[in-house]
Amino acid sequence: MSETETNWMSKLRKAGPCPTCGGEMLTVATNGEGVTIDAVCPTCFHDEHKADAKADAQTWMFVAQRNQARSYLKAYSTYANSAARSYTLDGFETGTDEQRKAKQQALAVGTAIMNGDTVHSFFMGAAGRGKTHLAHGLLLAIMAASGYMKQCIFLDWREYLDRQQDAFDGDAEAKRWARDAKKRIKTADVIVLDDFGSERPTPWTRQQGDDFWRYREDKTVIVTTNCDTQTLAGRYDDRTASRYTKHAKGFGFVFKGADHRKEG
Ligand SMILES: Nc1ncnc2c1ncn2[C@@H]1O[C@H](COP(=O)(O)OP(=O)(O)OP(=O)(O)O)[C@@H](O)[C@H]1O
Ligand SMILES: [Mg+2]
Ligand SMILES: [Zn+2]
Repeated sequence: MSETETNWMSKLRKAGPCPTCGGEMLTVATNGEGVTIDAVCPTCFHDEHKADAKADAQTWMFVAQRNQARSYLKAYSTYANSAARSYTLDGFETGTDEQRKAKQQALAVGTAIMNGDTVHSFFMGAAGRGKTHLAHGLLLAIMAASGYMKQCIFLDWREYLDRQQDAFDGDAEAKRWARDAKKRIKTADVIVLDDFGSERPTPWTRQQGDDFWRYREDKTVIVTTNCDTQTLAGRYDDRTASRYTKHAKGFGFVFKGADHRKEG
């Protein structure tokens, strides 16, 4: 964790021991007029509502920070559908062994990120296994657990490419977004790269993929993909593959189980 983050987090009010892991929980959110305070455990991501809030200056400082982080996520993220915006860790069911395992793996990725490691994590596997759901839930959990100090972006890769492409003959606004979004890829703390490799391969999309990994070589990315390792490697430059595997050791997971979309 960076020094700024550590300093900021030491300013957050402590919220008592975490019932799950025993670590110190932090108050991270007020709802309404300071009546309810949400608390999160930065160790295991357990979160809960605490009813004892007194909204003091510290709380409002926190709320400002949270709003900033949420605006950032909103401004630079791209979603294929709006339902994905509400995928949370809590909403991820763990009724099957596969689901439990998938969630555990995701939490391990989160813990490494919270410990300050650079991580390139790959959530792989067939459609409907919950990769996107877990990746988005984890992103929100990391934002909260960092006291909203981590700047996070969720990129549905195809949607992102479409917006970049549309900007070519788009208006000034579209062009500005495309430029800004690309700039943020260089600087965001954590990016979810959703459905990497799902785009139609053209020299231009390949170039975009290569650029992305040039920028993110030493920065954290959580990737979801339907492609296996070989297919992915065939899609982009050899140099790109070596960049995205640089921090991937121990963070690649194949999601098994049933297609959740078909269960209905
Ligand atoms: N364990 C789960 N608990 C609750 N909902 C789930 C779970 N797994 C999947 N879903 C839901 O099923 C749908 C498909 O999941 P998701 O989009 O995460 O799959 P995916 O693995 O990303 O699929 P694809 O490879 O097609 O992108 C979503 O609506 C998601 O919320
Ligand atoms: Mg998905
Ligand atoms: Zn905990």
